[in-house]
Amino acid sequence: MTSFDRRSRSPKNQNLAVRSPEFAYQPDRHQRNGFSLFCERIPLSNLAKRHGTPLYVYSASMILGRYDAFDAAFRNVPHTVCYSVKANSNLTIVKLLAKRGCGFDVVSAGELARVLKADRKAAEKIVFSGVGKTREEIIAALKAGILIFNIESEAELHVLAECAAKLRKTARIALRVNPDVAADTHPYISTGLHRHKFGVPIRDARALYATAAREKYLKVAGVSVHIGSQITDVSPFGEAISRVADFVRELRADGHCIDYVDAGGGLGISYQQASTDTFPEYLATYAKALTKPLRDLNVHLLLEPGRSIVGPAGVLLTRVVYQKTNGAKRFLITDAAMNDLIRPALYAAFHEIVPVAYQPSTEQAVTQDHSQKDNVIVDVVGPICETGDFFARDRALPPVREGDLLAILDAGAYGMVLASNYNTRPRPAEILVDGTSAKIIRRRESINDLLRLETR
Ligand code: LLP
Repeated sequence: MTSFDRRSRSPKNQNLAVRSPEFAYQPDRHQRNGFSLFCERIPLSNLAKRHGTPLYVYSASMILGRYDAFDAAFRNVPHTVCYSVKANSNLTIVKLLAKRGCGFDVVSAGELARVLKADRKAAEKIVFSGVGKTREEIIAALKAGILIFNIESEAELHVLAECAAKLRKTARIALRVNPDVAADTHPYISTGLHRHKFGVPIRDARALYATAAREKYLKVAGVSVHIGSQITDVSPFGEAISRVADFVRELRADGHCIDYVDAGGGLGISYQQASTDTFPEYLATYAKALTKPLRDLNVHLLLEPGRSIVGPAGVLLTRVVYQKTNGAKRFLITDAAMNDLIRPALYAAFHEIVPVAYQPSTEQAVTQDHSQKDNVIVDVVGPICETGDFFARDRALPPVREGDLLAILDAGAYGMVLASNYNTRPRPAEILVDGTSAKIIRRRESINDLLRLETR
């Protein structure tokens, strides 16, 4: 059993000694005797000053570095990495990855439009997943000429066949099979069991392949699987792919031509200790788990990573607006809220939170250990009128003052994409840092932006 998460320290015992070089403390001449958290070569405090908070900040080199590592881990087999756009769909990020040769996993006409807008030529590397594709979405994807449709039900298969026939365009298809494999993750993001809405049970899929093969405008081309997200133990991935491999043999025996196996996404990250050092090793274990069962099958492997590419490459910057105590409880109230980053509220997810400015002792500066002896236990909460509006509960943090900046780490995936306007709060701006340059890749919404679509 291999797990990326086992070496994590407890959240109560934060120690920032091992952080990725792209988000590390560096001496900052604007902080007297101090250090501040940088994104690549830019102090995050400068970005907050210039662009305001809450603010999403991403590192371009980290996104590309992680994509390259992912791609390299599968170099021994024919493969395409199809970045899962839902994790972070910002156009500039999609474009950055497209330029590097990445393919894409999309789940809506909106995501399809984003990829096509970023790079029209990326169409041939698009896989279209999702359990409820509408006719309009299917038609848009057929017109774009995407690589493959991952079909999730008999009803969808018929609609695709009908749309393809109408347009006289052949659609390559894979059936997403449900392998009935349990993965150790939050129940809301586990997908590989029969009781989940996803895919077709392998035992029913064979008949569906036969149905598909009779359709003039459908071309059976692959099998796909996705067992869930934030899975840090690679063994369930191996188990699912073994079942898929057996199934591919069966389908070939039935006379189908299976060129592709889509292994889905789902590889987890460590939210408690961000370190890029071990990412290639971790990926090597993952690649081994996936490729071993496929050996001798001679298929093209499709991969749909989202979080593992962009998650650690982004932070959410927020300012402490107030401090308060209710009895024994201490609260830091920030200007970011659950509408900006919903993961803690929705999945009880842990995100490391660190102050942007530090004044460490000399010893701490040398060891890059920025934990403090005088840590205080606080809840970090937003201003929204819900008890679920929190980023951390009973968390040991160095003492901070009102007006100080905090960075909520590992917020690059499922952060901004899940942001909402709840409480009529404009969504944050997004900044992409590349070395010493910082580009606004989405401007901050204004209250007028929010009112524009409504009548009175
Ligand atoms: N492929 C399919 C078919 C998926 O459903 C997903 C994610 C992915 C790929 C990408 O999975 P990843 O590599 O990012 O784990 N909002 C949740 C995560 C939802 C994941 C949904 N599907 C969270 O914040 O944890």
